[in-house]
Amino acid sequence: MSLKAKTIELRRRMQDAIQGGGQKAIDKQTAMGKMTARERIISLLDPNSFNEYDLFVEHTARDFDMDKKVLPGDGVITGTGKIGGHPICIYAQDFTVAGGSLGLMHAKKITKIMDHAMNLKVPIIGINDSGGARIQEGVNSLAGYGEIFFRNTQASGVIPQISVILGPCAGGAVYSPALTDFVFVVDKISKMFITGPEVIKTVLGEEISMEELGGARVQAEITGNAHFFAKSEKECFDQIKKLVTYIPWNNTKRADGFAIKQPKSKTYNIEKLFPTDPKVPYDVRNVIKALTDNSDFFEVQEFFAPNIVIGFARINGQTIGFVANQPLCLAGVLDVDSSDKAARFIRFCDAFNIPLITLVDLPGYLPGVDQEHAGVIRHGAKVLYAYSEATVPKITIILRKAYGGGYIAMCSHHLRADFVFAWPTAEIAVMGPEGAANIIFRNEIMSAADPDEMRKQKVKEYQQKFANPYVAAANGYVDAIIDPKETRKYVVHALEISVNKSDVRPNKKHGIPPF
Ligand code: HXC
Repeated sequence: MSLKAKTIELRRRMQDAIQGGGQKAIDKQTAMGKMTARERIISLLDPNSFNEYDLFVEHTARDFDMDKKVLPGDGVITGTGKIGGHPICIYAQDFTVAGGSLGLMHAKKITKIMDHAMNLKVPIIGINDSGGARIQEGVNSLAGYGEIFFRNTQASGVIPQISVILGPCAGGAVYSPALTDFVFVVDKISKMFITGPEVIKTVLGEEISMEELGGARVQAEITGNAHFFAKSEKECFDQIKKLVTYIPWNNTKRADGFAIKQPKSKTYNIEKLFPTDPKVPYDVRNVIKALTDNSDFFEVQEFFAPNIVIGFARINGQTIGFVANQPLCLAGVLDVDSSDKAARFIRFCDAFNIPLITLVDLPGYLPGVDQEHAGVIRHGAKVLYAYSEATVPKITIILRKAYGGGYIAMCSHHLRADFVFAWPTAEIAVMGPEGAANIIFRNEIMSAADPDEMRKQKVKEYQQKFANPYVAAANGYVDAIIDPKETRKYVVHALEISVNKSDVRPNKKHGIPPF
């Protein structure tokens, strides 16, 4: 056969393989408002940057008439490409082929591209759209999942791992996304659960729809399994493209630097955004935007545990991870969920050389039976652990309240912040003036002729003595009390000074964080 004929034969075979599960299955996929696996990869990657591998892989199953079935690509597309010029490895499950179910060869394609990503030290992106373990392949499917989970764990903290849920992701299959760094979901399309509605009805007698059980909103707002929520697949891909600009390729690199832009000072005038009265709420995201280049802020887990705000921004062109109490919600307290949210983000930033800026304004950890029984001790400890463990530059700014455990937890000097700045409005104390006065002056208040008047007087006394930054500054726990409008100047300087920071922790196999 001539080269020309062989090339024509290759093209024919490729054409057959890229049809996936055939037109009927593709039409069903499209009717659900979903792109096909190949369309997804093409939409996400830079134009003409995708190289596909293992297109001709075939399944090896023989039982249940599987020997008579052809499953093009074994239901998953794998390859390498670029996003914004950055190299990445990618796989996308093809639901049109046996429901994207995971058999032995399907899993081998995924683990092969994961191994590539680790060897090449580039991010791995997995697009999940699958009925889960391929039932006909039995334990081989489970083995495949196990191999993926192992690699997810090995890759953790070495290369960024991104999971995109664009269809069902059920049973044990959810544990690969759960082991990765960022999970993206799309409204009405993504579904994640360990056991589906049918099993729940049979075992527990409870009725619930797939959407209510594990739809995108549930994952973004209630469970915290998802980090980014989008209304369409296109919006989701735009979010991924943006994320990739903020993170490095691997843990030996820093994220790309960009041209320096000043904050939009007219919109984000720091003095006008901030109420000095400690009881008045405000949106801390505006304070973040008053500090960042071009006032951009890329929020992570926006809808989960909104009492803490986390996300990426740039200052002086460099990526920064922000962690900030949000006084708009529950006065910005630390609770079970906000502790989990912050701790994981801190560890991501630390693993990938992203400096951390912490904005503090909180009354402490949330009290209450619910929180105690939900394990606020165990979860809250994660924040202490994550900050103490982090060796990237850490800059803390105390805006207003820093009471009790909250003061310590939000990256105080005691957890090895490099710089702690306080605004003159900061109140650093064991607890708020009202609570404190009620306890330490109880006898004087109770025995006074006018207890209310006495309480007011004692609260004021306490406020004057302790509800300020000066006692902490006198002890060296605060490095500088600064004029709020000079915050960016101080932060830029601190980042420049910390550029060669190297902090050594005791040699150990690994710590035992309060998981
Ligand atoms: C083999 C599967 C499959 C599976 C779907 N298909 N899931 N084949 N193994 N797990 C096939 C269907 O037979 C069908 O083939 C095609 O994919 C499309 O599926 P439909 O059911 O027609 O699609 P839809 O109506 O959209 O429903 C999607 C679905 C449903 C909700 C995902 O297919 C479903 O419930 N599948 C089973 C889910 C499940 O229980 N998986 C096992 C989870 S346990 P044809 O030939 O008709 O087109 C698990 C353990 C992992 O994953 C543990 C790891 C530690």
